[in-house]
Amino acid sequence: MEVKPLLEMVKISKSFSGVKVLQDVSLSVYGGEVMALLGENGAGKSTLMKILSGLYKCDSGEIYLDGHKVQIDSVKDAQKLGISFIHQELSVLPNLTVWENIFLGHEVTKGCTKKIDKAFMREKSRELLKSLGCTFDVNAKAGDLTIGEMQMIEIIKAVSANSRIVIMDEPTASLTDYETKKLFEVIAALKSKGMAVIYISHRLDEIFEVCSRVTVLRDGKLIGVTELGKVDKNQLISMMVGRNLEEQYPYIAPSPGKVILSVEKLNYKNKVKNVSFSLREGEIVGMAGLVGAGRSETAKVILGEYKKTSGDIFVNGKKVDIKSSKDAIKNGIVYLSEDRKKEGLISNWPVGENMTLPNLKKYVGNFGRIVKKEEVIDFKEYAKKMSIKTTGYSQIASNLSGGNQQKVIIAKWLMTKPQILIFDEPTRGIDVGAKKEIYEILNELKKNNKAILVISSDMQEILGISDRIVVMHEGEVAGEIDRKNASQEAIMKYAVGISNRG
Ligand SMILES: Nc1ncnc2c1ncn2[C@@H]1O[C@H](COP(=O)(O)OP(=O)(O)OP(=O)(O)O)[C@@H](O)[C@H]1O
Ligand SMILES: [Mg+2]
Repeated sequence: MEVKPLLEMVKISKSFSGVKVLQDVSLSVYGGEVMALLGENGAGKSTLMKILSGLYKCDSGEIYLDGHKVQIDSVKDAQKLGISFIHQELSVLPNLTVWENIFLGHEVTKGCTKKIDKAFMREKSRELLKSLGCTFDVNAKAGDLTIGEMQMIEIIKAVSANSRIVIMDEPTASLTDYETKKLFEVIAALKSKGMAVIYISHRLDEIFEVCSRVTVLRDGKLIGVTELGKVDKNQLISMMVGRNLEEQYPYIAPSPGKVILSVEKLNYKNKVKNVSFSLREGEIVGMAGLVGAGRSETAKVILGEYKKTSGDIFVNGKKVDIKSSKDAIKNGIVYLSEDRKKEGLISNWPVGENMTLPNLKKYVGNFGRIVKKEEVIDFKEYAKKMSIKTTGYSQIASNLSGGNQQKVIIAKWLMTKPQILIFDEPTRGIDVGAKKEIYEILNELKKNNKAILVISSDMQEILGISDRIVVMHEGEVAGEIDRKNASQEAIMKYAVGISNRG
């Protein structure tokens, strides 16, 4: 007997204000299978999954579960059918505790009293965390956790909600290698329970590791469905981008000049401990370390966002006092945050206004009015430079695909023409083609004598683009490695605390 797919989406189409973002796209997945959904930024992956989970309504097309046609008009409908969605952008509520987040929307009540059973939910959350190897406290405020930890909450939420189909949109983008491994174990467990997983990721190695088949989209159209055992990475990339892509890391040799930024014995609570390093003009320094090693905190102390407890910061040899990102910009320093939802974009504003925001002064004309025409010209220039897929200046930022939002953030800070740039996970959730564009932009900045710090958890990326690598471990600089001595093992030794430059 022929086995029927657990889920079939047939000829789904969707337009936003007249623009077709999905055209006759079909996707099916069997129980016990992990189906990869692959495509460039803006290809339509998240939109297709938002339709499946009841967030968007499709214009045409049909959805079948176990061979029966179903109608999904709301998130509730989808939940009732056992479909859960782990979103690309975090939706954890920062003011609630870990356990409150896990049980949000499906709180457990005590027998007939109908009182919320806090003790049970706390205990259950503790178990779930433990089963995933998470060490943070169930009573902690979610907002105090790292991005990686918040993501784990979302995964636990979906797993605990008795789903049959779990959609994971870029689930590992901010997880450490260890957390990723744990996640893969969880996925294997879901599979063995007969659940179906739809897995969106820009990390091809992962797709080969956890998925059995792949559905590829390009520009809202279905390009093909194939078994992963039958294709290699290059074939996948060319299906995805419609061309071959050579060398992923276009490295250029540096010609480093004088030291522009120097940080001496920086301390912040117990998160940043005696951190010292420097950046020279015309070089890219990679900052490696595990999630929670204090890399973003270090950046935020430099930016004045966190108030340092001691230590000094020098720009061009002069001691500076930076109390806010405004002071930082004045000193030519910008920070591109790892968390675009929390810190990057004002999601209900137009893309164009988001982009020009830190640089508004430039556009003030007579009577203090903003000259919009010039703003639009600059917007167009940067949108083109960075191949941002947008309908134009007035498109609302939250309507851009995840990867394109990331590019807008980069553009917005580049517009301030800074001297020192700190990039925090700049290519998280960005497709292979766009990643390369970003590396090329970094190289261009390097050629123009900027000093660049790239914080990244992607080891290949750190190795591929850095001239020097600073590795952090538990708030300290554990070591510094030159490009010629750099390797995955060398970084890991410092990152896990086996070696210390001490
Ligand atoms: N609510 C919306 N209103 C208008 N346009 C939208 C909306 N949501 C998505 N789009 C557009 O639909 C297209 C597909 O976006 P989608 O988020 O599905 O891409 P994606 O494949 O998930 O990309 P990424 O890898 O960057 O996350 C994009 O051009 C995006 O701008
Ligand atoms: Mg997406």
